[in-house]
Amino acid sequence: MPEFQGQSATVDAGFGAGTAGARPTTTVIDDGSAGRGRGLFDFGRGQDTGGAVPTGMLLGAAAVGIGIGLLANMGRKAAVQGASLMQGDWFDALRAEHRAALAIFDQIEKTTPADTGKRSTLLAALKNALQKHAFQEENVIYPSIREAGERGDADQLDHEHAYVKTYLLELEMMGKSDPRWLTRVREFRDLIEKHVHEEEDEIYPALRAKLSDAENKKLTALMNKEGLKLA
Ligand SMILES: [Fe+2]
Repeated sequence: MPEFQGQSATVDAGFGAGTAGARPTTTVIDDGSAGRGRGLFDFGRGQDTGGAVPTGMLLGAAAVGIGIGLLANMGRKAAVQGASLMQGDWFDALRAEHRAALAIFDQIEKTTPADTGKRSTLLAALKNALQKHAFQEENVIYPSIREAGERGDADQLDHEHAYVKTYLLELEMMGKSDPRWLTRVREFRDLIEKHVHEEEDEIYPALRAKLSDAENKKLTALMNKEGLKLA
């Protein structure tokens, strides 16, 4: 269990000495072939109507107000998600989000124990960025990795995300002037960098290569749809 006072290094995401990069032997229960054709890429075969505003909502003065509010919110979400949408396919977008998260770590590491307000603000920004990112990965990309037959890889990445959440909570609970706070941030960054390395250099390229162009496009669309929910 993590200790939230920062008394000791209690968050161990399985990256002990000599195990960096090691993942459990893939335990593929099936080769994925049986599920092909009825899996992720068959969902939402019809045209995406997720952005449509029901006509009924626009009837009557009150309903018009609600409709305008809804559209404004959709516009805000689209603007937030736009940074990811501009990045090409699902892999490019996730890579850009990794860079954005690491840039927040850079800012946090420049702070001192006196910058308690700034630390809280930057930690909140990091949490928002990682939550949206993880939501997309956990709801679309990791299931796709399983669908492609790499269950062990997907389970390992999900496992590491659990420790991302643990670090975020621990850093929120610790006093921002605690001299050990930044040490924990650096340990957290180590976890994130190893996780990013696994995704960008090994697992994601393998998934992208395994899928057809049409499947990669579908994956991009599904992921962006998920991203809009938390944008
Ligand atoms: Fe990621």
